[in-house]
Amino acid sequence: MVDIYNRKFCVAPMMGYTTPYARKLYRILSKKAFLFTEMIASKSMIYSKNKDLIIENDDHNPVAIQVGGSDLDDLKKCSVIASNYNYNEINLNVGCPSKAVQKGSFGACLMKDKILVRQCIESLQSEKIITSMKCRIGLGKEFNYDFFEEFIDEVIKSGIKLIYVHARNAILSGISPKANRTIPALNYDFIIRIKKKYPHINFILNGGIDSLEKAKDLSNTFDGVMLGRLIQNNPFELSKVDNYFFEEKNIVKSNEDIISSYFQYIGPKIKIDSIFRLLSPLLSIFFGVPNSKSLKNEVNECIKNGNLELIESIFLSFVKEKRLL
Ligand SMILES: Cc1cc2nc3c(=O)[nH]c(=O)nc-3n(C[C@H](O)[C@H](O)[C@H](O)COP(=O)(O)O)c2cc1C
Repeated sequence: MVDIYNRKFCVAPMMGYTTPYARKLYRILSKKAFLFTEMIASKSMIYSKNKDLIIENDDHNPVAIQVGGSDLDDLKKCSVIASNYNYNEINLNVGCPSKAVQKGSFGACLMKDKILVRQCIESLQSEKIITSMKCRIGLGKEFNYDFFEEFIDEVIKSGIKLIYVHARNAILSGISPKANRTIPALNYDFIIRIKKKYPHINFILNGGIDSLEKAKDLSNTFDGVMLGRLIQNNPFELSKVDNYFFEEKNIVKSNEDIISSYFQYIGPKIKIDSIFRLLSPLLSIFFGVPNSKSLKNEVNECIKNGNLELIESIFLSFVKEKRLL
C-alpha cells in the first residue's frame, strides 16, 4: 500500500530557488524526492496575474505548495487552487522570520498565536489535498520545550498528520532571515521528544543536514528528513537519492543526459521567462570549483547574449570533465 504521508527525503522550500524550473531539474535528478515550491503569499496565489509562472506544476509530483498567509478565507481559496494544480500537499509557512512576512502576519510570528495556526490549518483542510505545516521549535534566544509542546498540542487538534520542523528557534528582530538559518542553535532533541508524545504524527526533521550520509543516518531516527542548502548548492546530489534512500535499482542517467534533458525543457520557456531564472537552478554547480570565476564570466556573457546553445555546451563539458564537487 502506498503511504501517502511518506516524506523520507524532502527538498526544502527556498524562496527564489525552488521555482518551477528548479523543481523540474530536481525531478529529472530524482523520481522519489518529495519537492516543495518556494513560499507563495496567499494573495499572490489567488490574485497574481503571473500566477501560472509561479505555481505551475509540470508533473513535479510528489510535490507540496507552500503558502504564506493567515487570512482564513484566503487560505481556503489557496487550498482549492493547490488541488486544481494537482499538488499533493499544501503546507503552511510558520517558520519565515523576515520583517516583510511579519508585517503580513504570517511566517514564524504565527507561533505566538497557536489558536490562529490551528484555524489556518483547518481552513486549508479538504478531502482533495493533504495539509501540513513547517514551523520552528520556538521563538527568541532561549530554548523552551514547553512552549513548543503547547504549540503542537493546539495545532494537532486540527487533525494535521504531517509537520516539518526547522529545528532551531526563529529570532524575529535584530538578525536577518539568512542569519536565522545559522545563529539560533539546532536542537533535534525537541523533535524526538514531541514524537514520543505523538507517535501517530509524522515529524520531518529540517535544519543543518549537510551531507546525504548524515541525512540517511537521521532518517533512521526521524519520519523523514528535509534538506535545503545542500541541494541548493549542489543539486546533483539528488541523483543519488533514489538509490540511497529508496533502494531504486538501475538508475543510469549520466550527468550529460541530465543537462540535455534540462535544456530541452527550458528551451521553449525562453519566450516566457528570463534566461537567468531558467538557469538559476544550475548556476550553483560552479561554486567552489577551481577556476569557477572564468566559467561564471563565460556563462554571464552568454546570458547577456541570450545564447542558450553555447551555455548548454559549457554545462555539458563541465559535467563531462567530472568537475562537479
Ligand atoms: C535561499 C533560501 C530561501 C528560503 N526560503 C524559504 C521559504 O520560502 N519557505 C520556508 O519555509 N523556508 C525557507 N527557507 C528555509 C529552508 O526551507 C530551511 O528551513 C533552512 O534552509 C534550513 O535547512 P538547511 O539547513 O537544510 O538549509 C529558505 C532557505 C534558503 C537558504
